[in-house]
Amino acid sequence: RIFRIACIPGDGIGIDITKAAIKVLQKLSDTVGTFTFDFEIFDWSSTTFKERGYYMPPDGFEQLKAYDAIYFGAVGWPDVPDHISLWGLILPIRNSLNQYVNVRPTRILRGITSPLSNCPPTSLNWVIIRENSEGEYAGHGGTTHAHSSHTIATEVSIFTRIGCERIFRFAFETARSRPRKKLTMVTKSNAQRHGMVLWDQIFAEIKEEYPDVEVDKMLVDAMTVRMVLHPQSLDTIVATNLHADILSDLAAALSGSIGIAASSNLDPTRENPSMFEPIHGSAPDIAGKGIANPVGAFWSAAEMVRWLGFEEAANVLMECVENVTEASIKTRDLGGEKGTEEVTEAVCLEIEKV
Ligand code: NAI
Ligand code: MG
Repeated sequence: RIFRIACIPGDGIGIDITKAAIKVLQKLSDTVGTFTFDFEIFDWSSTTFKERGYYMPPDGFEQLKAYDAIYFGAVGWPDVPDHISLWGLILPIRNSLNQYVNVRPTRILRGITSPLSNCPPTSLNWVIIRENSEGEYAGHGGTTHAHSSHTIATEVSIFTRIGCERIFRFAFETARSRPRKKLTMVTKSNAQRHGMVLWDQIFAEIKEEYPDVEVDKMLVDAMTVRMVLHPQSLDTIVATNLHADILSDLAAALSGSIGIAASSNLDPTRENPSMFEPIHGSAPDIAGKGIANPVGAFWSAAEMVRWLGFEEAANVLMECVENVTEASIKTRDLGGEKGTEEVTEAVCLEIEKV
């Protein structure tokens, strides 16, 4: 079967790692042979924004809907304010294509050492489920008395019953599908007394549907401490858009580097294409140097293959990536000295051996 993939490399290292992911996916489909990818590259980026005045053309969403999946690099560049670039591309795609779940798996890959002492690889194996459609990133608010000494800006978090119910059900299903059947819910309802209280209340309701899943509840500040001191006590984690955004960068660092972490923006109804992207940004500090770690991009690619129905091929890809990290073919962020292309070639060679 041929899958049509919309590729949006975006800015900075998004361009390098998307190229690397396409190469590896092509090698995987050549070797495994049960599927083919037809990649279409979209040049939507901060560069084209400066030329045309927009990131996506007006019919951008309609264009994307024609694809089986979207593969995304990163967006953002120092000469465009970050709220313009994020709201110009990635956030509207997530919203308009109903990608209300963001799944962020974290574990310590073979050959990678956690910066935590006392953290053997098996003690950190998490899936963070991020609410991806509302909460603190709902985009509601405004500014009054701008440019005066009385300026007030509001940033309103929005929590809906429907939004909470669907993310919790997805999180419980994920927890149930994993051996430990354990779900930790993250909140801040001690200080935030409306939205977060609804969030807690709906969690308590949905929990009743999953008596086989063990649950606990953490305030987000205490959660950061627990992730560092007792990583083995966690398994599946569900958190709001902002909290999970922050916790997943911490999780990535604890598992070795932000450069290895993957994410899937899913529309679980499958009415719209889902989108796969490493969690890192465009990394202007290392862009164009050929040293970006492509592992997060490969992991995201593996999750795309899994979502499209090829579980075994996804596992093969991750095995090959881990053979490479175990052989110490690593970029600098992981303490190695290889470049993006060397790591990519090494993964392709591993795939050929399968
Ligand atoms: P960042 O993730 O781009 O970089 C943070 C640090 O991690 C930098 O030192 C960078 O060199 C390093 N790093 C990131 N990915 C790496 C990789 N694959 N290999 C090796 N090192 C890596 O976050 P930052 O600097 O806060 O944001 C830069 C730009 O990216 C901003 O414009 C921001 O808004 C945007 N951004 C976009 C995202 C997206 O498109 N989904 C997500 C996060 C940030
Ligand atoms: Mg982030």
